[in-house]
Parts: sequence; C-alpha cells; structure tokens
Amino acid sequence: MIVGVLKEIKAEENRVCMSPGGVEFMRQHGHQVLVEKNAGKASGFGNASYKKAGAEVVDSPRDIFKRAKMIMRVKEPQPFELELIRKGQIYFSYLHLAASKELTHALIKRKAVCIAYETIQKADGTLPLLTPMSEVAGPMAIQQGAKFLEMAQGGHGVLLGGVPGVDPATVVIIGGGAVGINAAKMASGLGAKVYILDIDLDRLRYLSDVMPGQCVTLMSSPATIRDVLPQADLVVGAVLVAGSKTPTLVTRDMLKTMKKGSVLVDVSIDQGGCFETSKETTHKAPIYKTVVLRPPKKQPIKLRSIKSTTSFIMPSVTCPVRCPGLLPWR
Ligand SMILES: NC(=O)c1ccc[n+]([C@@H]2O[C@H](COP(=O)([O-])OP(=O)(O)OC[C@H]3O[C@@H](n4cnc5c(N)ncnc54)[C@H](O)[C@@H]3O)[C@@H](O)[C@H]2O)c1
Repeated sequence: MIVGVLKEIKAEENRVCMSPGGVEFMRQHGHQVLVEKNAGKASGFGNASYKKAGAEVVDSPRDIFKRAKMIMRVKEPQPFELELIRKGQIYFSYLHLAASKELTHALIKRKAVCIAYETIQKADGTLPLLTPMSEVAGPMAIQQGAKFLEMAQGGHGVLLGGVPGVDPATVVIIGGGAVGINAAKMASGLGAKVYILDIDLDRLRYLSDVMPGQCVTLMSSPATIRDVLPQADLVVGAVLVAGSKTPTLVTRDMLKTMKKGSVLVDVSIDQGGCFETSKETTHKAPIYKTVVLRPPKKQPIKLRSIKSTTSFIMPSVTCPVRCPGLLPWR
C-alpha cells in the first residue's frame, strides 16, 4: 500500500503521526511511505532521517492526497483539504466525529474510509490508540490546573499540596479511566486531596485498591457532583462514552456554586466536553472565565477557599497562638 504521512497544520499542533522507526517498520512489511516535507520537524525528526528509513519525502500535500491509498495524520482534515480526499481513500487519524456533525457529513460526502484512532478497540474494550494520549493528558491537566490556580494567572492562589499547617487543595476528577487515573496519580503525588468520580463500580473498586489514601472514590451522579463542586479548587473533566458525544455533567448552575478563582480543565473537550460552558481553546489562549462566581452563602468548607495558601500559613508564624504550660510558681 502507498501510505502518505501528512504534516500537521492545525493550530499549535507539533506532533507527527509516524517516526522514522515507523517508516522502517512499514517498509519491512512491503509498503511504500510518502512523508510530507518537514512533517517531523517540530518533533525533532528531520527529512533526512525519514529518507534514511526508506520514505520518499514529498514537497506538496496535494501530491500525497493524489498518490496515497491511506493518509495518516494526528489530527482531522482541515476544511480546505476535504476536497482533496478521494473516494475509497483511507483517512486514518484522531477524528472525534461525535463532537462534529459538519466534519462527519463532509467525510461521508467524500465517500472515504475514515478510521478514527480513538475508536479502535481491543477485544477487552480498551482503546489502544487513545490511551497513550490520555496518559499524557491526565498529568498535563493537573500541571496546567496547578499553574492557573496561581493568583498571577487568575486563580485563587492555592498550592495543590498545601504546606505543613495548611490544608491541601481539593481536586475533583470526573471519569476514572486512563486520563482520570493519571491525573489522580499526579495530583495525589503533589499532595492534593483527590475525589475520583466514575459510574463504573468495578473501576472505582480498582482505583480504591491502587490509589493512595488521599484519593477518595465516589459514584458519579448529578447529586455527587453537586456535593463535591463547592469544595473543589481544580476540576478535571475526564469522561468518555466511547464513540459518543460527552454528556454534560457539570451545568452552568452547578458551576455557580464553585469558589471564585477555582479552575476547570476539560480534557474530554475533544468529544464535546463535559462542562456546559466548555469550548475549545489553544495553547496561546488556553483559559477563559466561565460564570461569575459568588461565594455560597453558607461556606461548607475550609476558609482556604477565600485565602491563599501563603496568607493562611503566615499568621501562624508571625502571630503564633501559644498555650504556655502553667508555671508552678504562678
Ligand atoms: N484533549 C486531549 O488531548 C485528550 C487526550 C486523551 C484523551 N482525551 C479525552 O479524555 C476523555 C477520557 O479519555 P480516557 O482515555 O480516560 O477514557 P476511558 O475510557 O479510559 O475513561 C473514561 C471514563 O469515564 C467514565 N464515565 C463515563 N460516563 C461517566 C459519567 N457520567 N460520570 C463519571 N464517569 C463516567 C467511564 O466509566 C470511564 O472509566 C475522552 O473524552 C478522551 O477523548 C483528550
């Protein structure tokens, strides 16, 4: 088969779908590989390394669309490329069609064979092409969340792990699959208190067995989500209903019960997102404010919700409250 590897053109996309090692593997199996010029540049693979592995480096993506039986890429085709896809041609990439009716219809019109990486399932139901990305996205969600909890970034100034004498932050992870467990590992590793919500009781049992004690598992339901949101400093959306658009689990009204300056990271945005206010962002402009938050009338939680970690620990050293032992001569 002639396999065409296209350069990513979606904004800020630096990945490449095939390394020179992948080309070598394809060649060993008798396939011809066309690689678009500079396709691997941002990932550190030069044109020469692809040539050495046996690929033909091609200047024009149009030529690749014309010659290849199967097009491979990380991301979906961009609107102006759709007319280049030929009838019967295979387009193999992440597609997330459940979240895009327009792209779905456009691809059906092209009569192409489109295979979405994220829908490929092993016999045991696991998703081998999605999981590696989830293993990156889970920890990244925590890393980014921690950054945007800083006051200079608009957050309410809470350190995930707290410090001795001050409560750690509360991280709520909705969805305890591959993204969820990896986010929980990172958050608990940093010392946060973590709630993991899922609807699969067997998965919760497993998480409860393997995760450290500060990770509490909860059966996900609108009531549970309503309960935990007011406590949360950071919420991660990590839900997947394979092949479907993500259900909206956190409504605008629920968001209004959250602390001002808390942070939400919706990893499931590629399937439509699980927060009502979610929309796609870019690395250059990664955040936006969702709803105007007012502190709930009755604060069910710690004062930390309105003070930063540092302000909270400082008084305990500058104005220490001591209970001196009674002196025998008093
Ligand atoms: N943006 C990115 O770069 C990126 C990368 C990887 C994955 N993702 C997305 O992250 C999401 C999660 O991926 P994953 O690999 O962890 O999937 P997964 O299948 O491993 O886990 C999803 C979990 O969600 C749970 N779930 C389903 N409905 C739920 C509900 N109502 N409440 C709570 N939990 C529920 C499932 O039981 C499952 O445990 C997907 O939408 C995926 O597309 C995004």
